[in-house]
Amino acid sequence: MSEILRINLSDPLYQKERELRNNILLRPLGIPDFGWEMYDHKAWHFVAMEGAVLIGCVLLVPLDAKLARAQLMQMAVDTNYQGKGVGKALIQALLSFARSKKIKEIEIHSRAKVSTFYESFGFHIYGEEFEEVGIRHQLLKMSLLSN
Ligand SMILES: CC(C)(COP(=O)(O)OP(=O)(O)OC[C@H]1O[C@@H](n2cnc3c(N)ncnc32)[C@H](O)[C@@H]1OP(=O)(O)O)[C@@H](O)C(=O)NCCC(=O)NCCS
Repeated sequence: MSEILRINLSDPLYQKERELRNNILLRPLGIPDFGWEMYDHKAWHFVAMEGAVLIGCVLLVPLDAKLARAQLMQMAVDTNYQGKGVGKALIQALLSFARSKKIKEIEIHSRAKVSTFYESFGFHIYGEEFEEVGIRHQLLKMSLLSN
């Protein structure tokens, strides 16, 4: 059973998070290591731990000063641990935290092939598909006001 932690950039686990993102998100798309960290300083970082091993992560980035909207990004689970509920635990922790911050709406630029993963938590697709970092993406969002 994995444990979900919220960390900041001074935590040694942040370096493990960066490695996981390189392995799972960036290298398969040919993006240079550490090439998608422009929002890290203002994001909340959630990591999944199996003992001392970091096996998953996701970021929540506020989109405005009043925290009305935020964006979920950089969602990744170690290949050896996918399909075991780790992603689900990360999303649930992120949503619980977002509600505690009274964030009203969360959006995602999802890789089109994993949109159904996010839909299972109540996110819905809107707008047109688009290309980002060379692959098809969809916009999803969810209002937290009625949940
Ligand atoms: C997508 C990803 C984060 C899901 O994490 P995970 O730990 O494998 O997912 P879970 O085991 O928690 O699955 C939760 C539910 O989503 C479903 N699911 C998992 N991966 C899915 C996918 N790629 N597409 C559709 N549904 C998926 C599972 O079947 C499960 O459903 P259930 O609760 O009815 O059994 C993970 O597979 C991953 O890191 N993929 C590679 C990187 C990536 O694509 N990140 C997303 C960028 S937008």
